[in-house]
Amino acid sequence: MVLIHGGLGIFAISANFMASVLQGAQATDTFSVKPFKINLSGEVPRLNSLVNNSRLPAGALYPGVGQEKGIEFDFLHELKTEWLTTFDWETQQTQLNQQVRLQQFTATIEGLTVHFVHEKSKNPDAIPLIALHGWPGSFDEFSPVIKPLTQESSVNGTTVSYHVVVPSLPGFTFSSAPPANWTINDTARIFNTLMTEVLGYPTYVVHGTDWGSAVAYSLYSSFNTTVRAAHFVFLPFLPPSAEEIAVNNITLSDIQKIALQQTTDWSTTGNGYFLEQTTKPNDIGLALYDNPVGQLAWIGGKYKLWSDPRAGTPPSVLNSTAILTTLSLYYLTESFLSSVWIYAQNPNGFSSVYTKASTDRPMLFTQFEYNILWPEEYVAKTGNLVSYKEHNFGGHFSGLDNPPALIEDIQEMGLYYKA
Ligand SMILES: *[C@@H]1O[C@H](CO)[C@@H](O)[C@H](O)[C@H]1NC(C)=O
Ligand SMILES: *[C@@H]1O[C@H](CO)[C@@H](O)[C@H](O)[C@H]1NC(C)=O
Ligand SMILES: *[C@@H]1O[C@H](CO)[C@@H](O)[C@H](O)[C@H]1NC(C)=O
Ligand SMILES: *[C@@H]1O[C@H](CO)[C@@H](O)[C@H](O)[C@H]1NC(C)=O
Ligand SMILES: *[C@@H]1O[C@H](CO)[C@@H](O)[C@H](O)[C@H]1NC(C)=O
Ligand SMILES: *[C@@H]1O[C@H](CO)[C@@H](O)[C@H](O)[C@H]1NC(C)=O
Ligand SMILES: *[C@@H]1O[C@H](CO)[C@@H](O)[C@H](O)[C@H]1NC(C)=O
Ligand SMILES: *[C@@H]1O[C@H](CO)[C@@H](O)[C@H](O)[C@H]1NC(C)=O
Repeated sequence: MVLIHGGLGIFAISANFMASVLQGAQATDTFSVKPFKINLSGEVPRLNSLVNNSRLPAGALYPGVGQEKGIEFDFLHELKTEWLTTFDWETQQTQLNQQVRLQQFTATIEGLTVHFVHEKSKNPDAIPLIALHGWPGSFDEFSPVIKPLTQESSVNGTTVSYHVVVPSLPGFTFSSAPPANWTINDTARIFNTLMTEVLGYPTYVVHGTDWGSAVAYSLYSSFNTTVRAAHFVFLPFLPPSAEEIAVNNITLSDIQKIALQQTTDWSTTGNGYFLEQTTKPNDIGLALYDNPVGQLAWIGGKYKLWSDPRAGTPPSVLNSTAILTTLSLYYLTESFLSSVWIYAQNPNGFSSVYTKASTDRPMLFTQFEYNILWPEEYVAKTGNLVSYKEHNFGGHFSGLDNPPALIEDIQEMGLYYKA
């Protein structure tokens, strides 16, 4: 099953321009690298018509019921109204294309179309970085951090800057859907190909969140000659329960106590979607395939539940516009179905058995207050942990929820590139 998403426009670009942006690239013809611009405008009338014609109850059927029972009616109703009225896809599309200028591309790797942002630093010696999103995220999760990371900053007296690569996971937005037997390790392999062969970076560092952390961990462990350091805000290991933490006499900071509550909420009332997407991805995937308000009800609440209650106020940029931009990307690229399949393709993607990566390269971890909790003692079991930091603002979508903190922590990784 290889879906090529419809309605995508590709701009004609001169050969000189290509040569300059792909400077250092090797054998690009092999991978059919093409500049890419988003143009989903043709699909918007259908989206608007479906949103307009889908009916919600006149009011909450069970008023006063909280988020633990699923998305709050008022929140859904407000977002639906905003999608149809003040939200403007054209503005977002222009911004997505401008934010990353012409630096979006597609390449064909092992038969899959891989969409990626490639924003180069002005410093030719900048460190190559690949940053990996998860579900229900997209490459747009990193929009606020991409440009700042390309710029030079001084970290402990050392100048750090990055050439930033942000691919869309296979099956997400503009990357084509992989076969049913595709795993996280396969994604890691083609992303290593993207960095080393398509873009010509012999070594690089990785950042990962959510499913992207599983890909990042696979890269960190299995591509231990090319990956020089890794930064995580999430791990492909199930976080410990409150009981387990107590039994192990682990003392928690105030930030970690709030994060532990997020773990408890997720594992008691918050993981229904996880089981559904792991066991019956076609049921939910096809039920909501052409149902934008349904996708909003399934996904929208996650953004609220998993982020900081102060989301949308500085430094967070995670407001309703950001949520609706993500939802629009999912609906307009017809990738909701293939995105939920990542759970079924990797049923043991988040393991309860902690193993050490086969590498001695440095690993850095950041715990955001409203993300689920990995105590330092647990993170240290999985790699060569050199830095464990905590931030008292932000949640699961740290690129949107606290961009300055994520920038700072990824910049710190630059100190370990040569190590
Ligand atoms: C975007 O696609 C629409 C049709 O879907 C087309 O009319 C429009 O010209 C395209 N815009 C650009 C900038 O290519
Ligand atoms: C939604 O549908 C109503 C009734 O058919 C129509 O009057 C209105 O213009 C539509 N709104 C949008 C934004 O399409
Ligand atoms: C950078 O400086 C901070 C503050 O002085 C220190 O805690 C940290 O260990 C330093 N990091 C490295 C990698 O040297
Ligand atoms: C995975 O599925 C694809 C397409 O269905 C098939 O060509 C390939 O051989 C399969 N790979 C493995 C390792 O089973
Ligand atoms: C991925 O690769 C790692 C390291 O080789 C291996 O331990 C793991 O079982 C693989 N996972 C899958 C799903 O194949
Ligand atoms: C935790 O502390 C208790 C009481 O001091 C002790 O009996 C127990 O062995 C400790 N557990 C671990 C895992 O260190
Ligand atoms: C959300 O924040 C962005 C800036 O990050 C702003 O442009 C947009 O207007 C905000 N949306 C709303 C609904 O306030
Ligand atoms: C890299 O991984 C290979 C295969 O797992 C392993 O044999 C080797 O020791 C690892 N290198 C380092 C530096 O850990």
